[in-house]
Amino acid sequence: MSAPGYAPRAAAAHLLNGVLTEHRLLTDMVNSKDGPLSKLPPQGKARAQSLANDTLRHLGRIDIIIDQFMQKEPPISVRNALRLATCELIVDKIPPHAAVDAVVRLVKNNRQTTRMAGMANAVARRISENGAEIWADLEPTSLPPYLSKPIRKTYGKDVLAAIELAHENGAPIDITLQSQADTDDLVEALEASVLSTGSLRLFKWGQISTMPGFEEGAWWVQDASAAIPVKLLGDVAGKTVLDVCAAPGGKTMQLAAAGAKVTAIDLSKYRMERVQENLTRTKLSANLVVADVLTYTPDQPVDAVLLDAPCSATGTIRRHPDLPYAKAELTLQPVLDLQKQMLNRAASWLKTGGEMVYCTCSLLPSEGEDQVEQFLASHPDFEQVAIVAKDHGLLPEWIDANGAMRLRPDFWADRGGMDGFYAAILKKHA
Ligand SMILES: C[S@@+](CC[C@H](N)C(=O)[O-])C[C@H]1O[C@@H](n2cnc3c(N)ncnc32)[C@H](O)[C@@H]1O
Repeated sequence: MSAPGYAPRAAAAHLLNGVLTEHRLLTDMVNSKDGPLSKLPPQGKARAQSLANDTLRHLGRIDIIIDQFMQKEPPISVRNALRLATCELIVDKIPPHAAVDAVVRLVKNNRQTTRMAGMANAVARRISENGAEIWADLEPTSLPPYLSKPIRKTYGKDVLAAIELAHENGAPIDITLQSQADTDDLVEALEASVLSTGSLRLFKWGQISTMPGFEEGAWWVQDASAAIPVKLLGDVAGKTVLDVCAAPGGKTMQLAAAGAKVTAIDLSKYRMERVQENLTRTKLSANLVVADVLTYTPDQPVDAVLLDAPCSATGTIRRHPDLPYAKAELTLQPVLDLQKQMLNRAASWLKTGGEMVYCTCSLLPSEGEDQVEQFLASHPDFEQVAIVAKDHGLLPEWIDANGAMRLRPDFWADRGGMDGFYAAILKKHA
């Protein structure tokens, strides 16, 4: 990789400080109009973002290496500058002089740390000489205890280790095609492979908006796991479907492309604007409603509901390595209460015989399996319909004893992994 300039590195340092000291989310900072990336050209933005992401993804190993070469804990901004340099030296394999020079400039340009530039220079040099060897013997970055504990308790220590490895490995880009008829052409144009679930997977990509077929709306970016819940509703052509918690609209586009009459509901006006942009680009249509699910009521009962509830997003850490650091603890109860209320409301909107798919991108049973169990216990007019793995290109072991889909980031480890996801089909009977 060629060495980027100073500005993207300075922006990456801002991003890192924001996540690690202010517990902010990268997406919020990246999308902010006056955020750290706002003055960078597209290439610089992409570089700053990928440098911050990679540094967070490998933070555990990076810190162990820095600690080997430092006597005294430096101010956090100096540690963050060294973290970026370590990532550039070992992960990105950037020429040592460029990475060392950048850390020295970052430390020097901050009045409070300028006197530490010499120390930063010495530490970065030693990392450039010896870091890679140490790195190879280190375990993948651990999740913070507030996340590792519940995951270990649910899946065991071996699965936790596999999930942590999947997080370090990162994620390819998966796309959903508007029409399967374009598969062969897009596989060739994008050098993609076809997954058994129907998504295309890309291991090489550039600026998304300039890639073949994007502007024409032939596809959208969506993790392979996230594309499955809509498919669980079966043939939705001509049916009325409520897409509950819809933004930014990946599932709305799938439903509209499948011919459903979609009403998409989301609380966030800003996020709903992204849904509209996506629909405009793909020339698909849906009725968009900015509303709180807890107060909204549809005019008529509907044939199907897709409820993609807000959750801890613990299944998406391989794509969002900032998530573990943006919080210091799991405060699940409010979101569990919200999921429960959303399930109750959405259930009342279904016609008799209609089906609801409840899903979350969480690894925690409290947001998936337990919610569905409690829902069924309090809704005798609903039954769970078992998902048939082979109908959706899934492995049978990914379906639990109750017929729900439980996906984990360590699945498909040999081909780039997948986001963690839970989905269950709930049918309202007479
Ligand atoms: C997991 S995301 C949805 C992702 C989306 N289904 C997709 O596939 O692109 C959850 C969404 O729930 C929305 N949300 C959170 N609380 C809500 C509420 N009370 N009413 C409506 N939407 C809500 C958030 O704005 C967020 O966009």
